[in-house]
Amino acid sequence: MEFNDVIMSRRSIRKYLDKQVSEEDLQKMIEAAILAPSWKNSQVTRYYIAKSHEVFQQVKEALPEFNQNNAENASVLIISTIVLNRSGFERDGTPSNELGNGWGYYDCGMHNMNLVLKATELGLSTLVMGIRDAQKIKNIFDIPDNQSVVSVIAVGYSDFHPDMPKRKCVEDITTIR
Ligand SMILES: Cc1cc2nc3c(=O)[nH]c(=O)nc-3n(C[C@H](O)[C@H](O)[C@H](O)COP(=O)(O)O)c2cc1C
Repeated sequence: MEFNDVIMSRRSIRKYLDKQVSEEDLQKMIEAAILAPSWKNSQVTRYYIAKSHEVFQQVKEALPEFNQNNAENASVLIISTIVLNRSGFERDGTPSNELGNGWGYYDCGMHNMNLVLKATELGLSTLVMGIRDAQKIKNIFDIPDNQSVVSVIAVGYSDFHPDMPKRKCVEDITTIR
């Protein structure tokens, strides 16, 4: 698949077929995520995958009702977290600039973008969900206190491909001097 086709065809999918994603494809998605750039190569993103029926249901319950419906029939739910106070920080623990842990979240977004684009290339669909109960998810996976839960990403096979929501144009978001 051409790169442009990948970025044009990726959509947030809120309706999935009842079909499992292979372990091999999951592996490829995480490998793609790992290739993303990060602050001083600190690689603070971590993934927790809800795959078994039991854990999938538990994570689903950490989503509000509309996201539970959006993720219905997805094959897996991938939780992304960051290890806090590393990306964007000096060795002595002081923030390198005003963004502090913002850089860890920035890195995580880059990881996740690689992950969802790889999924698209593999013929899979995704939905990034930021509306979720972080504490419930931490309890399910025993995620340590030095990590912050970021998103839940539904992955599966699309049952409906929506049109692209309207985008801003280059002039709307760019200043060149
Ligand atoms: C950080 C982030 C959080 C999001 N959270 C949700 C969410 O909780 N529920 C949902 O249905 N969509 C969520 N979305 C999907 C956006 O609504 C979607 O990306 C946007 O409308 C553009 O559509 P597209 O992804 O098909 O291009 C989220 C996307 C991002 C990047």
